[in-house]
Amino acid sequence: MRILVTGGAGYIGTHTLVSLLSKEHEICVMDNYANSSPIALDRVRRLTNHDFEQHELDIGDGPKLSAVFAEFQPEAIIHFAGLKAVGASERDPLLYYHENVSGAISLLRAMDASNCRQIVFSSSATVYGEPLYLPYDEKHPLSPINPYGRTKFFIEEIIRDWTKTSDDKKAILLRYFNPVGAHSSGEIGEDPEGIPNNLLPFIAQVAVGRREHLNIFGDDYDTRDGTGIRDYIHVSDLADGHAAALNYFTRMSGVEIFNLGKGNGISVLEMVEAFKQASSRDIPYQIAPRRDGDLPAYWADPKKANELLGWTAKYTIDDICRDSWHWQSKNPEGYK
Ligand code: NAD
Ligand code: WQD
Repeated sequence: MRILVTGGAGYIGTHTLVSLLSKEHEICVMDNYANSSPIALDRVRRLTNHDFEQHELDIGDGPKLSAVFAEFQPEAIIHFAGLKAVGASERDPLLYYHENVSGAISLLRAMDASNCRQIVFSSSATVYGEPLYLPYDEKHPLSPINPYGRTKFFIEEIIRDWTKTSDDKKAILLRYFNPVGAHSSGEIGEDPEGIPNNLLPFIAQVAVGRREHLNIFGDDYDTRDGTGIRDYIHVSDLADGHAAALNYFTRMSGVEIFNLGKGNGISVLEMVEAFKQASSRDIPYQIAPRRDGDLPAYWADPKKANELLGWTAKYTIDDICRDSWHWQSKNPEGYK
């Protein structure tokens, strides 16, 4: 299939490219490198021994977008491009609405102009908000609690309305839980700019000596050890979920939503212990106050994706820590 991948140079994008190229899809990547490096795409080429088209382009740039669509004639889009930092979205919500929501509209317009009818969208478990029950299934009510999460919610709704304008338009909304880990080669991985917001990259940077200690945001939650619980999913499992979603287009119409998670929760302290084992390094930590906006615990019900997509997250938490450490120790400064 000819697939256009927005944000393909990013963390999840690069891992998904590896999965798609191994299945012989024809790929065109668009990225403005706002949060990534073209070096990551060279690594993907080296790793897979496959080539693909690559355009430095902002998805908000309608005319340039249309020109690439007209030439490549994609059969499907995988839409990763966007901003993803929760705290930054609270400080500058208009930037997030502009980049994420307007960007998605610009993309859907270009799809219309070139008659492209299928989109896979990177949504997030963050659209569910305060759990009314756990695990979250796809029918759980939506109530995102920060501007970033609301951009995902609005884009889901916009895409849903877009599919209603023609019988042959199809969309798959993938709600990711907590993507972590790296490709087992250690060639590609997560390379956050500045101080990492997320747990795994922070732990990895402590292990490699770039940071002194981890701050654990609260140890007084009503969880088994008092620390926050999340559903961590290996990024290579997540990548394979996109390939499975593309296969599902022939069996569906309209919109389908899938949780992509492992289906169980791991606490912060359990993650620290697993990383210690995988890296044979000490991970000093301090207990810090709770982080504003953090939920105590949530995890996925991935049954729908397991049954309909024939996809299951296979990697364990030990695999995640091993691969994350392999990437971090091989590339202590990321792609730089
Ligand atoms: P990332 O920042 O590594 O990748 C996003 C890519 O999009 C980057 O390469 C960036 O340069 C590019 N980009 C941003 N704005 C752009 C624009 N206007 N035009 C073109 N390119 C642009 O993030 P990621 O972790 O790979 O996430 C990919 C997608 O998945 C995002 O939409 C994110 O919101 C979503 N998601 C991520 C997580 C997570 O925890 N990583 C969880 C749920 C959902
Ligand atoms: C995980 C756990 C923290 C850092 C975020 C977004 C979400 C989604 C995935 C995009 C929590 C604790 C963390 C640290 C810590 N992204 N923690 N010390 O918050 O579950 O989800 O990324 O869609 O929208 O909100 O992930 O990795 O930041 O935190 O103790 O230095 O680790 O409190 O319990 P989160 P995270």
